[in-house]
Amino acid sequence: KQKERKQLWLRQDAAGTLSKRSTAAHKGDHGRGLLIGGSAVMPGAIRMAAEACLYSGAGLLTAAYPSSAVAAVAAAPPEVMMMPLQDENGYISPEVRVDDLSIHAYDAVAAGPGMGRGKGAKVLVKQLIDQVDGPLLFDADALYFLPENIKALQQRRQPVVLTPHPGEMARLAGVSTKEVIQKRFSLSRETAARYNCCIVLKGPNTLVTMPDGSQVVNTTGNEALARGGTGDILTGIMLGMLLAKQKIQPAVSNAVYLHGLAADLAVEHDFTSYAMASTDIISYLPPAFRSII
Ligand code: APR
Ligand code: MG
Repeated sequence: KQKERKQLWLRQDAAGTLSKRSTAAHKGDHGRGLLIGGSAVMPGAIRMAAEACLYSGAGLLTAAYPSSAVAAVAAAPPEVMMMPLQDENGYISPEVRVDDLSIHAYDAVAAGPGMGRGKGAKVLVKQLIDQVDGPLLFDADALYFLPENIKALQQRRQPVVLTPHPGEMARLAGVSTKEVIQKRFSLSRETAARYNCCIVLKGPNTLVTMPDGSQVVNTTGNEALARGGTGDILTGIMLGMLLAKQKIQPAVSNAVYLHGLAADLAVEHDFTSYAMASTDIISYLPPAFRSII
């Protein structure tokens, strides 16, 4: 019976649910996004996510990062607004308070890429769960602190989206990575319900599971995505989609669809899985969007 509840996410689904953009729109209509991450050793992650977000519909985007990651963020497109955070040894300081970030000014918040697993990241994740009003997306190192925050997640009314790869999912679910691969449908349903989150289990045929157990399987993407940084790019695209103030399930599924489609177009036209970098995928977002509008 539960098998009937999972379906493929196809071009017609993406085309039919992509949010419309009014000719009378102003930048606020397209959403103010906040992206939190980066560290001295992984400054590129937030930069890649920021650039992908700008190419995925965001009206306004601010990046918040420990000040030692400033060079990388400054090299992001100039449209990104910068919010340096107090730094402790190259990571976000545990002194950082979300109240000081005017967190309520944003329509959606994403955190995790390149953030590390220090004390600062830990206290930040808890504050975000408790204080962010709109949709909240956790990826990468931010996921590390979620098992200790299940209660707080269950109390949230606004949606939370998690984007684990199988290793990160194993930690969320408390099982081995092998078990994640073997039982991805049932495990995703159980975990999405327990965390009260939408779970995007990444990999070939990424699986999107809502807290109510409904599931869709993505139909785009290829092995060119199997390189460092592509997950950060997905986070940026997804923040862009979440800013469009539409339903969470299509927003998330379309982010996964467009990310995969951009990679498909890259290898169809100019690149091969051998010789390309993750950031090359961002330049195929324009034709990917064009093909579904
Ligand atoms: N086919 C299709 N898609 C794939 C394939 C494949 N063979 N391999 C990977 N992908 C896609 C996944 O679905 C996902 O969207 O590429 C992306 C990889 O994301 P991550 O695994 O998060 O990779 P990465 O960007 O390197 O993450 C950076 O964050 O999650 C942490 O531990 C990770 O430190 C690393 C960092
Ligand atoms: Mg990742």
